[in-house]
Amino acid sequence: MADEPLVLGIETSCDETGVGIVRGHTLLADAVASSVDTHARFGGVVPEIASRAHLEAMVPTIQRALDQAGIAASDLDGVAVTAGPGLAGALLVGVSAAKAYAYALGKPLYGVNHLASHICVDQLEHGALPEPTMALLVSGGHSSLLLAPDITADVRPLGSTIDDAAGEAFDKVARVLNLGFPGGPVIDKYAKEGDPDAIAFPRGLTGPRDAPYDFSFSGLKTAVARWIEARRNAGEEVPVADVSASFQEAVTDVLTRKALRACRDEGVDHLMIGGGVAANSRLRAMAEERCAAAGITLRVPRPKLCTDNGAMVAALGAEMVARNRPVSAWDLPADSSLPVTEPHVPAPSPGHAHDHDHVHETSRKNLYA
Ligand code: KG4
Ligand code: ZN
Repeated sequence: MADEPLVLGIETSCDETGVGIVRGHTLLADAVASSVDTHARFGGVVPEIASRAHLEAMVPTIQRALDQAGIAASDLDGVAVTAGPGLAGALLVGVSAAKAYAYALGKPLYGVNHLASHICVDQLEHGALPEPTMALLVSGGHSSLLLAPDITADVRPLGSTIDDAAGEAFDKVARVLNLGFPGGPVIDKYAKEGDPDAIAFPRGLTGPRDAPYDFSFSGLKTAVARWIEARRNAGEEVPVADVSASFQEAVTDVLTRKALRACRDEGVDHLMIGGGVAANSRLRAMAEERCAAAGITLRVPRPKLCTDNGAMVAALGAEMVARNRPVSAWDLPADSSLPVTEPHVPAPSPGHAHDHDHVHETSRKNLYA
């Protein structure tokens, strides 16, 4: 519908320069420039290289998104940007670009939370999020169970990883297997040829006295590494497919078990899964099976919307506009540890939050005070 908010979203929290454009719940453009190949030889994302790559990709990626959407920048109702959490230097590039575009165009600025964006993106695929939504967020940096009564204003963490994130575990195991970086997609591929029951790897924090919604993948990662080392020391070949399948089974078993328990305990009858690891084929299949058996509706966006992208930021920005949430100030900071409980970063003076010019004046005074 033409009266729905038209919002551009910028994402630069890690190694993808993402620019998306949405109208309400409709995706119009999703342009991504990734620096992942540049990091591959280091076996992980190098923050300084990521920041530099964002800087080079920013303007062309914004232009590509505008062309894809077939709109002029002046048509926009707002500019949204990931304000955190993420790599400080990388975030800063996106935040600076968003401020420049919003200011030059005279449009409101919305600094939003990366994690809430991973959840909100599903509105582009499956329509309005049910309220509350139970979300399992699994990426390279995060593994959390979140209860979201209102994705623009109320997100409650139920539990999270106490050590490695799920994606991090995939990346580290892939490294031990010499499969390259990032590890998730390639382990997913090898696992299809392997036996998930070949090796009984541990399921962390699943004992009766363990925190029911927290995760731990560090013990699993070590167990896999030890198992591989023992084979190598014995001069035996490492069965890559079986190790991949058994490791993947252990991760997805714990993730789905805990997510379903949270749904049951909180009386929520649908589950959303987001973040890069939500692209995992076994996680998707297992969640589908277990949700169906438990009478829970599963919502998982298509893989391209699960990994970092600008469309998810635009989706949350559009929801902010639709719900009349206060805009962000022109001195919006990039906050590398923005808490998940803050879906967006409103201007500090709530009384004047809707008056963007005033916000601008106030923040300018603060900046130069
Ligand atoms: O959400 P994302 O793109 O970036 C972060 O915010 O971290 O997630 C990246 C993570 C990486 O650890 C990558 O290995 C993992 O998601 N990943 C996968 C798959 N595709 C990406 N993990 C398992 N299976 C996949 N198919
Ligand atoms: Zn992410």
